[in-house]
Amino acid sequence: MFDGGGSSGGLSFGGDYNPEQWPASVWADDFSLMREASVNLVTVGVFSWSRLQPTPDTFDFAWLDEVLDGLHEAGIGVCLATPTASPPPWFTRRYPDSMPVTRDGVRLTHGSRDTYCVNAPAYRAASVRIASELAARYGRHPALRLWHVHNEYGTWCFCSHCASEFRAWLRSRYSTVDALNDAWSTDFWSQRYAGWDEIEPPRATQYLRNPAQELDYRRFLSDSFLRHYLDQKAVLAGSSGGVPVTTNFVLGDWVPVDHARWSSFVDLVAIDDYPPDLAGRAFSADKARGWARAAGHPDGRWLLMEHAPGYTHSSSGLRRSAESLSSVASVYLDRGAVGIMYFQWRASRGGAEQWHPALVGFSSAVTSEAVDLGASLVGRTPSVVSADVAVVYDEESMWAWQSPHLPTRVDYTSLVQSWHTSLASSAGGPVDVIPVGAPLSAYRMVVVPALYLMSAAAHEWLRSYAGRLVITAGTGLVDEHARTTPDSLADLIGATIVERDFSPWLDTLAPTAAGARPNVTYIPSLDIIDLEQKLLP
Ligand code: GAL
Repeated sequence: MFDGGGSSGGLSFGGDYNPEQWPASVWADDFSLMREASVNLVTVGVFSWSRLQPTPDTFDFAWLDEVLDGLHEAGIGVCLATPTASPPPWFTRRYPDSMPVTRDGVRLTHGSRDTYCVNAPAYRAASVRIASELAARYGRHPALRLWHVHNEYGTWCFCSHCASEFRAWLRSRYSTVDALNDAWSTDFWSQRYAGWDEIEPPRATQYLRNPAQELDYRRFLSDSFLRHYLDQKAVLAGSSGGVPVTTNFVLGDWVPVDHARWSSFVDLVAIDDYPPDLAGRAFSADKARGWARAAGHPDGRWLLMEHAPGYTHSSSGLRRSAESLSSVASVYLDRGAVGIMYFQWRASRGGAEQWHPALVGFSSAVTSEAVDLGASLVGRTPSVVSADVAVVYDEESMWAWQSPHLPTRVDYTSLVQSWHTSLASSAGGPVDVIPVGAPLSAYRMVVVPALYLMSAAAHEWLRSYAGRLVITAGTGLVDEHARTTPDSLADLIGATIVERDFSPWLDTLAPTAAGARPNVTYIPSLDIIDLEQKLLP
């Protein structure tokens, strides 16, 4: 069990700490300021690969020894990151085939971060090597509380390494090319494949791409990242006798990572969260807890690994939050967070994020709010949340709704978030955001908004639920291979959909002889309805 608070069962408070950006003379100030702010956990080393391994065959741990020892003396725990999200320049030059290639075929060069292809053999080997060095040196360090693998998995790549790994992944998923042809509907537009080697990643092409190929590519990337994570997890876990291992999930429609599936492979679900408002924060928090609980983490425990202190990003620029650090933290703590962590501790002096807000060196008002918040968290323990209403959020449906070939544009994440907000305000208590397949027996009501993609297993899962099931339009339109599934809801809702208007969405229903299951309500539009007031007895 994660014990990030230093004293058993307490809350963690802190954030990303990048001491390599500062002369050592600043570190002592940092440690004493951290103590003043009751910081008990900092994430170190996320972007420090070029300092830790300055050349292919040399390592320099002296500075990190000093930092970890100093933190330990100050009573501050360490969430130690592997730096694999940002390979150093020597790596790029030596292994240009490890740089990511865009959909358009452009190979990127060094100069930012996330410049890697997760399937490149040299990158995979170099990642395990640096993780092994860190594991050997710090696996038993007394400050170590948590391993943080990589940073925000999600970098897309379409290179030839990915192409051959994609073929291998497809082979194990489908066994035969005929099965793949069937799943991908390749008789449409003469895409039928005669052999595995004809299959490519969904790179830039002339017009609309095959939606099944696109979906499988996201699943494949998610599994490729997972393999990279598990390679590192194996060496870290083996060296440190029970220190939990995690990575920070980044939330966003562009991310090719299936977080519900991943949640079974992390020892603690951890998210980074940068929404514009409190409703967005509540949605992220309830989602993180939903993933954690569905994956069997005790009490659905999860950690807020990063958020921005005191400011939010808006289309017009950085804006000072109307809410204090403490009211923002409450949104997460009330929803079961085991810690409140920020990006970042000290504002960077230079570099691409020098104007990113930080706890120190950006706004003295933010620093003093952080000191107050830290003090108020001492001695507190995480809340255990139990909700009796849930809303389903499915990342595969989110991916599928992004396809440009659909009859209308639906912003699936915003739609589910609006349902979540409405349910939470009318239920007057927490609402779980759950993935497909999560246990349902604790809920009196489950709402399923626009679950576009519905496999036979997902259908069975909904059928097995005996409580009030509310399904909205846009649900069950295709199977897991993006093939249409007419009448897939008929047995649940007691009707077939004989016509659809798409703007605004409105289904016309024809009742079946068998009728609806008594516990099921169907909403034929994408409107958000106050269910407690209007629909329920
Ligand atoms: C996160 C990332 C951090 C930092 C932060 C800025 O997504 O993990 O490294 O870039 O965003 O908001």
